[in-house]
Amino acid sequence: MTRAIQRVGILTGGGDCPGLNAVIRAVTKSLVHHGQCAVLGIQDGFEGLMAETPLVQPLDWERVSGILHTGGTMLGTSNSANPLRDAATLARVARNVRALALDVVVAIGGDGTMSLAHGVSQATGIHCVGVPKTIDNDIAHCERSFGFDTAVTTATEAIRRVESTASSHHRVMIVETMGRHSGWLALESGLAGAADVILLPEIDYDVQAVAVHCRAREARQRYTIICIGEGAKARGGALTVREHVAGSPDPVRLGGVGHVLRLQLQPLLSSEVRTTVLGHVQRGGDPTPFDRVLATRFGHHAAELVLARRFGEMVTFSGARITSVPIARVANVQRVVTPDHELVTMARDIGVCLGDAPA
Ligand code: F6P
Repeated sequence: MTRAIQRVGILTGGGDCPGLNAVIRAVTKSLVHHGQCAVLGIQDGFEGLMAETPLVQPLDWERVSGILHTGGTMLGTSNSANPLRDAATLARVARNVRALALDVVVAIGGDGTMSLAHGVSQATGIHCVGVPKTIDNDIAHCERSFGFDTAVTTATEAIRRVESTASSHHRVMIVETMGRHSGWLALESGLAGAADVILLPEIDYDVQAVAVHCRAREARQRYTIICIGEGAKARGGALTVREHVAGSPDPVRLGGVGHVLRLQLQPLLSSEVRTTVLGHVQRGGDPTPFDRVLATRFGHHAAELVLARRFGEMVTFSGARITSVPIARVANVQRVVTPDHELVTMARDIGVCLGDAPA
């Protein structure tokens, strides 16, 4: 007979994201409510399992109370830990999981964490259940990850705020969002913030086309708001890389294309051009009510997968339902905006310039 699940580890990997604490709380409360499991929080993502002595803390009902609405992760995280970096590290991870007698590790993270969880499972036989998190909304087979709604809300508010300066000074204001190589964050916050130009990583922009749009607005509305995703680039141009993080499974950090665009546009326009890079404020702060509920649903479903011994699965949101997919199918894949996506088509139809041709 298969042994019942007794000990469950939880870790959060990759960048922090609003809603992580809500997932930790829901997984823990669901398992404690079930009545037979001990839950251990693993500190700082995979780093907590890579250490000589594993870094863990027991989680119970009291420990996870009062964290539903809080940003960040109570367990700490790391986006440079790589348990697959060499055989010795992998062996230490396997030894630690055995020493802690964990039946399964619930890994909450983005596509990087899912790839690591998959790799560790394949190499060591450690059981994993995945929970997708990202403000980028770029995890394959998951239509909406928690954190995204909060980031869209923050970015939208920022876009609305720069409009005061844009209209008062008759300027072109560029707002750069995060999102890596996916344009979901730029697209949804640009639409919600009524940006006049939205530039996505998936559609290389033509500087002349953007300038034509801005000049037409100079003559009528006298100001323009541009929302650009950090992974966007000019036609024939290169990505704007902020830094390389040595040792990280995903070493390239993007950022700064808003400044590049300003330098490209300024000589072509009469209005002054200014750039605001939103950066980490998009990841910070309390999750929205939508994200609190979505994260709680994800955590609850992860606990159900654990108890049903459905290892190797990642919780997902698809067709307005919480369900799951094999982690193997999401590892190393990114969900990007397709050029014929309904939101892209709609944006064009309502006169938003997407940078590829005059609207
Ligand atoms: O994946 C989340 C994210 O915030 C991206 O949007 C961004 O490119 C990246 O993480 C930034 O990473 P870091 O915090 O390491 O600079």
